[in-house]
Amino acid sequence: MGNRRIGLAASLLICAVLIAVTCYWLVDPQSASAANATAANPGPPPADQMALLKHGANLAAIGDCAVCHTAKPDAPFAGGRPLATPFGTLYSTNITPDRQTGIGAWTLADFTRAMRRGVSRDGHLLYPAFPYPHFTHMTDADIAALYAYLMSRDAVQATAPANRLMFPLAFRPLLAVWNLLFLHPGVEADGTAQASTSSPPASPDAQLARGKYLIDGPAHCAACHTPMNMLGAEKSGDAFGGNVIEGWEAPALTTLMDAPQPWTHEQLVAYLRTGLATQHGAAAGPMRAVTQSLADASDTDVDAMAAYLLSLQKPASSPAAATAHAVQTSQTNPAPADNAHIRNGAVLFVAACASCHATHAPMSTFGGRPSLALGTAVNAQDPRNALRMILDGIPAERSARGVYMPAFASTFTDAQIVDIAAFLRANFSSQPAWALDESHVERLRKENHEP
Ligand code: HEC
Ligand code: HEC
Ligand code: HEC
Repeated sequence: MGNRRIGLAASLLICAVLIAVTCYWLVDPQSASAANATAANPGPPPADQMALLKHGANLAAIGDCAVCHTAKPDAPFAGGRPLATPFGTLYSTNITPDRQTGIGAWTLADFTRAMRRGVSRDGHLLYPAFPYPHFTHMTDADIAALYAYLMSRDAVQATAPANRLMFPLAFRPLLAVWNLLFLHPGVEADGTAQASTSSPPASPDAQLARGKYLIDGPAHCAACHTPMNMLGAEKSGDAFGGNVIEGWEAPALTTLMDAPQPWTHEQLVAYLRTGLATQHGAAAGPMRAVTQSLADASDTDVDAMAAYLLSLQKPASSPAAATAHAVQTSQTNPAPADNAHIRNGAVLFVAACASCHATHAPMSTFGGRPSLALGTAVNAQDPRNALRMILDGIPAERSARGVYMPAFASTFTDAQIVDIAAFLRANFSSQPAWALDESHVERLRKENHEP
């Protein structure tokens, strides 16, 4: 039986390699010659250089390039940050202009090929944890601006640690098959259909088009918010339907009208730029870094993204539908959080949480932060983010307005965390109780996740 499995795995691997090698040869020579053709483009005149760099900096902020490509704050873009994926740990690479270990020797054509096709300079295929399936939609002008911006950064000598991926994924040519199935290359020539500057769009339609371009392209929001198939590709029929990423639930972005306080344009803009909106929970987990990066993006672009996001909303579910849903979930998940759990949780809450989260705590009176009842964590169907929040808290670093919550992972046992979660759900949400036990918390503790 063991042998048969190994035999099957081996023959699958051999088939995949044959397909991969074939695809590799079909795809690569063509893009390599395209690379040579554009390498001789003259650079922009110096008078435009400042505008170009500003344009590139804006796109780098929207694309979170520094978030993934920075391991040490004093060496931005130098790579080496681990990324937890369902397939193992992957390290981002150095994209500073260092010639040996970074991309200093890359031409614009090399860079464009990486962004559009996921092919590195020496021809090796890149893993789609690098969001090239989104960056492929960027215009030539935008890619050139990003390139100019990255080339203007400080060169840092740094080599990323080796990846730790499941067999046989360390074998990169397999990615040719992935690309064949899931990469839909975007505009090859300059996409004049998309406005590529961040000057205010002329009409609401232009603003929506700009927002769509940014969200689907450089901002790659779907990379975290769209469910994935078994091969780690976004499911095409369920865009923005919600997903678990780096140990956190990235909620659906199509049901923002179902929030306890339906999202408005202003709230969304505030959240995206600062991680804080007065009627919603603060951005935590991997979303915190996204909002920290968007703080440096242009106002008009964040406005456009918010406008487009709001245009994607399903109508709020009617109260009747919500009740039906609640009844259904409570029937399938008989609530184990009996009063003893909730009572214990209430005691722990008073001791550990109330100094910040009680109605009259300084955080709400002076800090203007909303009740836990308005956040997604306690109202979500999945207790994941509430548990993650209790385990990990919100680290204080770089948070603009002192939004900090201690991590309680080593303060409480699994059983105590179950009790606290039961209390949160009963006290701050009208949704049916979570079906929760200690194994749940234990699993989340062990998971590879973003702190
Ligand atoms: C979600 C994390 C993530 C984000 C966001 C991200 N990258 Fe990356 N990037 C990676 C990883 C991981 C790799 C290495 C992939 C591999 O080794 O196969 C990579 C590789 C690259 C490479 C290839 C480098 C080489 O040596 O082959 C380039 C170029 C690059 N990224 C540019 C960018 C730019 C520009 C942005 C912003 C617009 C960006 N990346 C945003 C994760 C990310
Ligand atoms: C690296 C993964 C990642 C990326 C990229 C990402 N998000 Fe998120 N997002 C999350 C996670 C995880 C949460 C849940 C965080 C929380 O509740 O504190 C979240 C929460 C949100 C929320 C709050 C939803 C709610 O119901 O409370 C909004 C709105 C949002 N994201 C919009 C966006 C937009 C717009 C983009 C693209 C500009 C984006 N996200 C990109 C991971 C991501
Ligand atoms: C030092 C103050 C502090 C303490 C103590 C604290 N928190 Fe928090 N907590 C915060 C802050 C700040 C936020 C971000 C909330 C915001 O600004 O919207 C937060 C957010 C949360 C959220 C996420 C809300 C959402 O939907 O985004 C949950 C759940 C939570 N806390 C639970 C707890 C629990 C349970 C305890 C006790 C075990 C606790 N907190 C103790 C400060 C604190």
